[in-house]
Amino acid sequence: MASTDVAESKPAADVGVGVGARRAPSPASAWVNADGAKNHSKMTIRNLDFYYGKTRALKAVTLDIPDRRVTGVIGPSGCGKSTLLRVLNRIYADCPGQRATGEVRLDGKDILGPGVDLTMLRGRVGMVFQAATVFRMSIFDNVALGARAREILSHAQVDERVEELLTRADLWAEVKDRLKDSADGLSGGQQQRLCIARALGTRPEVLLLDEPTGALDPASTEAVEALIMQLKQRLTMVLVTHNMEQAARCADQVAFFYLGEMVEAGSTAHIFESPTQPRTQNYITGKFG
Ligand SMILES: Nc1ncnc2c1ncn2[C@@H]1O[C@H](COP(=O)(O)OP(=O)(O)OP(=O)(O)O)[C@@H](O)[C@H]1O
Ligand SMILES: [Mg+2]
Repeated sequence: MASTDVAESKPAADVGVGVGARRAPSPASAWVNADGAKNHSKMTIRNLDFYYGKTRALKAVTLDIPDRRVTGVIGPSGCGKSTLLRVLNRIYADCPGQRATGEVRLDGKDILGPGVDLTMLRGRVGMVFQAATVFRMSIFDNVALGARAREILSHAQVDERVEELLTRADLWAEVKDRLKDSADGLSGGQQQRLCIARALGTRPEVLLLDEPTGALDPASTEAVEALIMQLKQRLTMVLVTHNMEQAARCADQVAFFYLGEMVEAGSTAHIFESPTQPRTQNYITGKFG
C-alpha cells in the first residue's frame, strides 16, 4: 500500500495493513456517550514513550481519543501535555534527538512508523498553539494558506473557502471589511480564531489545541470555547488546558497527566466528581500544580 495510507480516512476495520503497521491494533474501543450512543476511537495511543535526547518525557502512555468528542488533557507544568500533542501529528519529527516509541494510530493506521506522509498527517491532524501564530501577511492570506495546503483551488474557490472558514471560526463578521489588512492588527482573541480558521483550512479530522485560551481575556476565551463546542459536531479535538473550569465545560473525557504518566482518564464527570487516583483528586482540588 502507498506511503500515504495515513492520508486515507478508512474505517477501523481496515487496520494493520498500511506501511509502518507493526502489529495488530488493540481491539477497537468505543466511547459511550451519556445517551448511550457509541463513538469509535479516532486515535489510539498504546504504551507511548517519548524522549528528548535521554529525557523520557512520556512514560508508557495509553489513551483512546474518541471520535468527534473533546478530550481534555490536564496536569501540572512539565507533565508532558504539549509533548503528547507533538506526538499526535509528529511535529517532533523535525527536531533532531527527539523520538517516540510505542503505538499511535489514526483510524486504526499506524502514524509512528516509517513511510507516513507527514504533510498529509499534519493536514489531517491540525494544531493550534497557546500564542497565536499568525503569519505576517493579510488576514485573507493567512486563511488562504491553510485552504491551499491540501487542495488546488481557483481564485474564486479560495475566496469562497476563506469566507467559509472565517465564518466557521466565528470571525467573518469582524473582519469581512478588512481582509487585506495585516493579521498583526487583530486582537489576541481574533488572532487565535484566525489561527483556528487557518488550521481548519486543511479540513483536519483532529484538531490539537495547546492552551488555546491561555493568553486570552474572558470574552475571547468564551468565543474560542463556543467555537470548540460548535466544532466538535464534525471534529475530534484534544484540548490541553490549565483551566479546570474550561476542561469541565468543554471536554467529554479528561486525562490527567503527572510527571510524564497518564495517571487517570475518564468521563469529565468521573474525573471531576469521583476520581479514582489520589493524585488526580489532589490536582483538581488545587493541592498542587
Ligand atoms: N525541547 C525540549 N528539550 C528537552 N526537554 C524538553 C523539551 N521540551 C520539553 N521538555 C521536557 O519534557 C517534559 C514535558 O514538557 P511539556 O512541554 O510537554 O510539558 P507541559 O505539560 O506541556 O508543561 P506546561 O504546562 O508548562 O506547558 C518537561 O520535563 C520538559 O522540561
Ligand atoms: Mg505545554
